[in-house]
Amino acid sequence: ERLGILCSGRGSNLASIIEAVERGDIPAEIAIVIADKADAYALERAREKGIPAVPVIYRDYAERADFERALLKELQAHGVTLVVLAGFMRILSPIFVHAYTGRILNIHPALLPSFPGAHAHRDALAYGVKVSGCTVHFVDEGMDSGPIIMQAAVPVLEGDTEETLAARVLEQEHRIFPASIKLYVEGRLRTDGRKVQILHVAE
Ligand code: GRF
Repeated sequence: ERLGILCSGRGSNLASIIEAVERGDIPAEIAIVIADKADAYALERAREKGIPAVPVIYRDYAERADFERALLKELQAHGVTLVVLAGFMRILSPIFVHAYTGRILNIHPALLPSFPGAHAHRDALAYGVKVSGCTVHFVDEGMDSGPIIMQAAVPVLEGDTEETLAARVLEQEHRIFPASIKLYVEGRLRTDGRKVQILHVAE
């Protein structure tokens, strides 16, 4: 598989995926890293590793559809077969999703279906949950609503802030995202469109 990784910020999930590929844990190649902001540190991380790093700037395009077509052009030009959203903060329309149906993975920093959207930690703390965590899922046309591949839970502690909770969740993100990508690349994921089964390789 050829991975196309989309980022918006510092790229700590990107870094964990690069490390997993480099140690041979994920039998795939990272074909391109795209960020929707020119100053996203994720691009720097890719450049340091000699991975093609391409900014596709949202406001350079008059319409969202044009922005998404630009993303698709880059992904297709690099022969991408699996799209990985690693801290990518844009909603993708059906135009994009249909181009890679069943081949887009996302990580969300909450236990979906709880707390979808862009403020998961804030919403979890405001609600007063005692457990939070993260979710890797296939991307469908909804927001944070596709079939769930893997989740990890962390305790919410007295005095937690968005920052302390985010740091605790991020440790688990860095574990389950590479693990989920590995399962996909090894062909061990099956979905009926709602639920995901993990096939265990015959010993
Ligand atoms: C992570 O919490 C991720 O779940 C969310 O964005 C945050 C930043 O991720 N989508 P990264 O450090 O840029 O990978």
